[in-house]
Amino acid sequence: MTLHARTAIRTPICERLGIRHPIFGFSHSVDVGVAIAKAGGFPVIGLARELPDEIPGILERIEWRMQGMPYGIDLMLPVNVPRNANIKDLHASLPVGHVDFVDELRSRFKVLAPVKPSFFTTQVRSETLFEQQIEQVLASNACGIATAIGLRADLVTRAKARGKVTFSLVGSVRHAQKALALGVDVLVAQGYDAGGHTGPVGTLSLVPQIIAVAGSAPVLAAGGIATGQQVLASIAMGAQGAWLGTLWMAAKENHTPSALLDRLIASRSEDTIITRAHSGKPCRVVRSEWIDAWNDQGSPQPLPMPLQQVLTGDVFTSIHENNNPQLIYEAAGQSVFAIEAETTISAQFDRLVADMDKAWDRLRSLAVG
Ligand SMILES: Cc1cc2nc3c(=O)[nH]c(=O)nc-3n(C[C@H](O)[C@H](O)[C@H](O)COP(=O)(O)O)c2cc1C
Repeated sequence: MTLHARTAIRTPICERLGIRHPIFGFSHSVDVGVAIAKAGGFPVIGLARELPDEIPGILERIEWRMQGMPYGIDLMLPVNVPRNANIKDLHASLPVGHVDFVDELRSRFKVLAPVKPSFFTTQVRSETLFEQQIEQVLASNACGIATAIGLRADLVTRAKARGKVTFSLVGSVRHAQKALALGVDVLVAQGYDAGGHTGPVGTLSLVPQIIAVAGSAPVLAAGGIATGQQVLASIAMGAQGAWLGTLWMAAKENHTPSALLDRLIASRSEDTIITRAHSGKPCRVVRSEWIDAWNDQGSPQPLPMPLQQVLTGDVFTSIHENNNPQLIYEAAGQSVFAIEAETTISAQFDRLVADMDKAWDRLRSLAVG
């Protein structure tokens, strides 16, 4: 018998999406997504870092492996990116001071040139790229479409016309109101604690504010959440579930480079910081010497999105490709505290659900009368 056989904690969104547990899992890994679906959660697979030519094949594989289980796809659609962009042309236009700074870091840290092409070495976030990604994702069988950083009215309308449930990651009441005005179905209130691009308001303060404006739209809590007690606390606040990202990097299914996994295991919440050095927008990552070098006195300010990635995308690719223990970093939330050892998605779900039960029993034991 699995540990989670006796849970009874479900919310209306579980019925709507056909999932067993009110646990939503964001990941860039298809293997993680499939395992989350099998464990009874709702996986949301991020495709914002995949090579455009590979997306149709990835979507086909996802659909085949999900075998009818519900899942979502996520895209990151920031505004203020160029209409069209070619990485070589943009590289040639980067400020000389920044290019020299990064050249010096590459030679100081002996960063090798990456061997395989990646999103970060070949692509630039642009309107044309987003339109291509949107077409691909809308044509998929995913029952949910999530977007982060930016919102596109046409995407919401077209996704809903195809019967897909739309999710929007929001970091403020203003973002939430904008999403609601466009007809987004589910708000993901993602606080400052979260891994990845994030706003200035902490999850515990953000969730009630988003619930207050959401009306009948379900709200999920995201950011810093990695235990069943926190999932139950989110539901106690009025959220219909919790959306987790960092925790899954400890699962075998994520194929996390060993140097990164070691760093995540060794890190506490305070070892994650918000930096613009990754993408040009504020993004919470687990620190490494690469990230720290951007905070040294005399270092230049990171360039705005998408230029910072044009400047440093080869380094991000190389340090992952080479499993570089000194420099490797990744988006990671304050939830990193819960990463203690390599594990599996199934074991993580067993623990999350058992801890939700425990928290529920504890609350009931405190009720008077
Ligand atoms: C490695 C990593 C990559 C992420 N990439 C994206 C992304 O491409 N799109 C997105 O909507 N959110 C992304 N996120 C944020 C997650 O969707 C989620 O909101 C966040 O992980 C929740 O906080 P937590 O990391 O403390 O669990 C990413 C998070 C991590 C850890």
